[in-house]
Amino acid sequence: MSRTTKLVALTAAASLTLGLAACASERDPGTSPTTAGGGATTTAGGGEAGGLIGIAMPTRSLERWNNDGKHLDELLKKAGYETSLQYADNKVDQQISQIETMVNSGAKVLVVASIDGEALGNALEAAAAKGIKVIAYDRLINGTEAVDYYATFDNYKVGTLQGEFVKEQLKLDSEAGPFTLEPFAGSPDDNNAKFFFSGAWDVLLPFVESGKLVVPSGKSPKTNDDWKSIGIQGWETAKAQSEMDNRLNANYQDKKVDVVLSPNDSLALGIEQSLESNGYKPGADWPLVTGQDADKANVINMLADKQAMTVWKDTRTLGDQVALMVDQIVKGQTVEVNDTETYDNGKKVVPSFLLAPQVVTKDTVKSALVESGFYKASDLGL
Ligand code: GAL
Repeated sequence: MSRTTKLVALTAAASLTLGLAACASERDPGTSPTTAGGGATTTAGGGEAGGLIGIAMPTRSLERWNNDGKHLDELLKKAGYETSLQYADNKVDQQISQIETMVNSGAKVLVVASIDGEALGNALEAAAAKGIKVIAYDRLINGTEAVDYYATFDNYKVGTLQGEFVKEQLKLDSEAGPFTLEPFAGSPDDNNAKFFFSGAWDVLLPFVESGKLVVPSGKSPKTNDDWKSIGIQGWETAKAQSEMDNRLNANYQDKKVDVVLSPNDSLALGIEQSLESNGYKPGADWPLVTGQDADKANVINMLADKQAMTVWKDTRTLGDQVALMVDQIVKGQTVEVNDTETYDNGKKVVPSFLLAPQVVTKDTVKSALVESGFYKASDLGL
């Protein structure tokens, strides 16, 4: 994976400032965050803020997207835009129809967190034909030229953080093992899931090949490209729970699982429910379980020793960055990106802005998630 990223400001950084944050102070900002430059908007491109921005989110059934949509919607409204925030209940046809409505309503920019990254080409090409710009939000949209920018967290890094955490906690470089591992991957239609798995498996596969990690279920991809064989459709908690039940019932009558690689928190929650119903006890024989997103139920499980870590992606900062990109597009300014090599969508390498994810554990919940205002202490029973 060529990981060369370089800061590419595609123009001298004009002093473009918006009524938008470079960073949010509150999860649900009551106050419009201050801008780095003090708020005066000088526009290098001469355009004006305003007009309709379409925000297409995949579903409300996965916690993080509710936070993403709400924050971005509020930021854009505060910056003087009209918005159409739509959730598609994880139904691809519904998302396509919502995008078509945004196009027909005269949207200037579409911000799209796709359900199926391969399914939006026709709808977005119709948008492009009308001069509408498209920002892929968090999930890359593939197979079409009609994606102008991509904004996300470094997805490969998310997986690397998970893999490295397992390696360090189990001391795989020094301990003899073998340790039992059950790996999971995300939804097969989500481009991110490939990167999450690859980042983790690039760390862990050598230990599987050496025999220090063993996979009793046999569900151990031989290469990163086999990740879909252990994918959980739609990132559904219930599907992860039943898959873990099946693996435990079929392969663990005479042994215990030591570590579960879960790519995100919605899967980890199902895996943890399975572990509990199969008699595992936190602090006794509970395995190391990974996750991502710092979903509330999983943070509470971390505090109860039912999950070892989550990779936190402060979705407020993603919203801040995308709102800035929208404004730069509408005002005819150059859009800042910091990665012009990694994200090839099959038709083009999409100019991207990557944000940095970070590991949160039980010991850092307060400093990372409460002190930043992402959660209130009372949200977490603290
Ligand atoms: C991914 C996203 C993750 C994960 C998953 C389910 O695309 O990057 O944060 O939670 O979707 O929403």
